[in-house]
Order: sequence, then C-alpha cells, then structure tokens
Amino acid sequence: MAKLKTKWICQNCGYETAKYLGKCPDCGQWNTFVEEVVETNSNNQSKVVLNDTKPCLIDEIEVDKSIRFTTGIEEFDRVLGGGLVQGSIVLLAGDPGIGKSTILLQTGKSICKDGRKALYVSAEESASQVKLRAQRLGVKSNSLYIYSQTNFEAIKRQIEEIKPEILIIDSIQAVYSDEITSSPGSVSQIRECTNILMDIAKNKNITVVVIGHVTKEGNIAGPKVLEHMVDTVIYFEGDRYKSYRLLRCMKNRFGTTNEVGVFNMCDDGLHEISNPSEMFLNERTQNNTPGSVVIATNEGTRPLLIEIQALVGTTPYPSPRRVSNGIDYNRLLQILAVLEKRIGLNLSKQDVYVNVIGGLDIDEPAADLGVALAVATCARDVCVSPDTVIVGEIGLSGEIRAVNNLDKRIKEAEKLGFKNIIVPASNKIKQDEFKNIKIKEASRLIDAITACVSKQNN
Ligand SMILES: Nc1ncnc2c1ncn2[C@@H]1O[C@H](COP(=O)(O)OP(=O)(O)O)[C@@H](O)[C@H]1O
Ligand SMILES: [Mg+2]
Ligand SMILES: [Zn+2]
Repeated sequence: MAKLKTKWICQNCGYETAKYLGKCPDCGQWNTFVEEVVETNSNNQSKVVLNDTKPCLIDEIEVDKSIRFTTGIEEFDRVLGGGLVQGSIVLLAGDPGIGKSTILLQTGKSICKDGRKALYVSAEESASQVKLRAQRLGVKSNSLYIYSQTNFEAIKRQIEEIKPEILIIDSIQAVYSDEITSSPGSVSQIRECTNILMDIAKNKNITVVVIGHVTKEGNIAGPKVLEHMVDTVIYFEGDRYKSYRLLRCMKNRFGTTNEVGVFNMCDDGLHEISNPSEMFLNERTQNNTPGSVVIATNEGTRPLLIEIQALVGTTPYPSPRRVSNGIDYNRLLQILAVLEKRIGLNLSKQDVYVNVIGGLDIDEPAADLGVALAVATCARDVCVSPDTVIVGEIGLSGEIRAVNNLDKRIKEAEKLGFKNIIVPASNKIKQDEFKNIKIKEASRLIDAITACVSKQNN
C-alpha cells in the first residue's frame, strides 16, 4: 500500500502547505492549519462528468428560461434575486444558532407546493428534533422528506431513490464521505462533498441548498472554502443579543449581490420586516443629541434610514483612538482628514468613535456626509435636528458629490416623517416633487455644517 501523503490545509481559506504554519499567509488567521491526508490514487479527484458539448454560435443557442421557484419568504426571494433557481447550488452561511435551519425549514411549505419533492438532510439533528421545530414553526407538508444522516454515500442513495427537486444539506460540515480519509468537517471533506453536490445539481437539475457554519476555531472548515464553488452565497447575520437578522447576498450568478433581507426572530420562527427603517430608528431618542445623525443609505434596491452616532472626546492615550463600527475604518480616517483640513476641526488630541446603530455595515460613500456631521457636531457640542436626514459623498477637497437613487432616499425619509434632508447640490433634485420634506442642497462640507448648525441658533 502506498504511503499516505499529507498536507497542512488552512481550515479558514483552504490554503495548502507542506508543513505546519502558525499563521496563514493567505487569510492571516492563526492556528487554522490541520494536517489532512491527500489521496494519492487519482480516482478521488472530483469526477464532474462533462457533457460532450461542442462550441456553437451565440445566435443559435436556445435559452431555457431559468426556472425559479419561490421560497414563500419574500425577503429571502429578493436576496436570491427572485427565488431559487432550478439546478443551482446555494450556500447559506452564518454563525451557529443564527437561524439557518429555521429559515430553510420555513421555506418547506412553499418549495413543496404542487407536490414538488424536497429532501431535507439533517446531519446535526434527529428527525424528531426537526419535526418539533417544524411544529413550532407551523410547517406541514406531504412532500417534504426529512432524513437524519451524516454519511454522504447514504445521502446519495436516498437522492437516487426519492429523486427530490430540492435538496437541503444541514450542514455541510456535519456530513462526511467514506471515500475521503480526512476527518469530518475538514477542508478536504467539505470540498469533496460540495463537488459531488455540484455535480448532482447540474446533472440531475436538482436545486441544492447547503448550510455552512461560520467557525471561529480552526478545526472545522469555514464556508469561505466553498464560496468559489457554488452559484450563490448568502450570509445570515445578526446580533446574538437582538432578535433581528439580516440576510445578505455575497455572490450571485443569477442576480445582483447587494440585496439585504431583514427578519425578526420570534418563537414561531422568522418574520419578515418589510419596513426596516422604522425598526432601525425606533430606539432613537427624539431629543437633540450631539453626534447623532440619521442617514439614508441604499441597501440593494431599497433605501434604508439608519442612525449613525459619533463620540469625540479628549484622549487619555498618547495617540488618539479611532474606532469604527459599521463604517470602513479607512473611510473614517479619510473623512476625519477632510474635516481637519477643510473645516479646521482639530482632532489630533481627540478620540473618535463612530457607530452604526443596528449592527449594519455600510459600505457606500453616500454615508460620508452623515459620518462627518456626526463627528463635527459632537466635537463642537451642537446637534443636528432629529427631524433631518443627511445624504452625500465627500470628496477630498471638501466638496459634496452626487449619490445614486436620491429620489428613493428622499421618499423614504418623507414617508417616515422627517422634515428636512440635506442632499448634494449636484444631484439637482427638484423640491416640487416632494411636499412634506424640505430639501436643502449643499455643495461643500462647510455648507452642510452651516445648514445644520444655523438651525441650532434660530
Ligand atoms: N423553542 C424555541 N423558542 C423560540 N426560539 C427558539 C427556540 N428554539 C430555538 N429558537 C431560536 O432559534 C435559534 C436557533 O436557530 P437554528 O435555525 O437552529 O440556528 P442554526 O441552524 O443557524 O444553528 C436560536 O438561537 C433561538 O433564537
Ligand atoms: Mg441548525
Ligand atoms: Zn487561510
């Protein structure tokens, strides 16, 4: 028998080396390397059987309209780009306990509509545990099969037998194939199993949804390793101590990636929140607070109003701190630099903390002006009026740049009862179109600051 060959593989990102490393040179994580057996006989390489196709002229290709089916959860469908696509493979990743099993079980009723068969492989829980959850969620179906199994070969046999149209694997880290020597949950295992699932999805036209746990410790492989293999990657996020959850698309071969779905986790499962702005703003105090502003961001196709808070104070440390939650750190440094240079705000001895309420990550530049005003008003101990929303990107010379979808943002602010909105002058928005909100244009950062601060004085 040939000697077993091993490799050290980073369980976070899949980076391979011949010897142990403390820190992964690829993803920078520590202690993530695990020794895995490399199969020497080549028949363990993934055997994706290619159909014998020939190149053909683009005009002659027949398009079979990709068939989508609804999950029955509108927010989930939106994040997927309109529903699950037949024959595609979707990765649903998230922290343990965030609600991945819950959301997929909740889709059971809809995806099994018209007698469509679904096979839910529960590799972590027994069938009766799943049944108990289904009862709690009120899910009933006569074509949803629950199969409690961890062995991948057995799962494959059941796929042949039941011939489901939808296959759910909960979770990919808990299933293992006998054909791979590495331990369950290792990079080799989950890669190989996913490879076979891809093959099943494409060749048998089965829609596969794979659950992957985001792991902190290195002995179980994280979903990152799979991201490039699947068609769609969706992350389920949320604050462990709060009940709301966000569904965020990271990769989508069948739609856009910037959609976000918002849910509330209750005893009877996940409830969709169709107006998230209201939820994100409901803890805001109505009094004037220095350093608190409301911005209108764009999450996918939908505007979202969020509060940003800043805290600025004299530093007790040798070098001042900059802490940013929800805003890119470098973006914050850039905004602070513009404030110092163009407004003359001296922050060199001040700590600056910026926080986006609700645990959201905002990565669009339209939030710049809101961040700048939160910091500036806190530093000067004045307030932005609580009925004002702020939108705009800041350029390095202190100019305010246009943002996209401004109309939608203004409408959302108007709908939620805000009275004023500060917007980039270069967007050239017409006031006549909006009856209940006053539009204030600003072309430079200093104008925007004056627009809020002068309100203070009168
Ligand atoms: N009996 C229950 N009543 C209310 N909520 C529950 C109950 N059991 C679980 N939950 C909620 O469901 C969450 C677990 O969801 P689950 O779908 O199992 O997570 P995951 O599959 O992502 O690990 C828990 O964190 C909790 O918020
Ligand atoms: Mg689960
Ligand atoms: Zn790595």
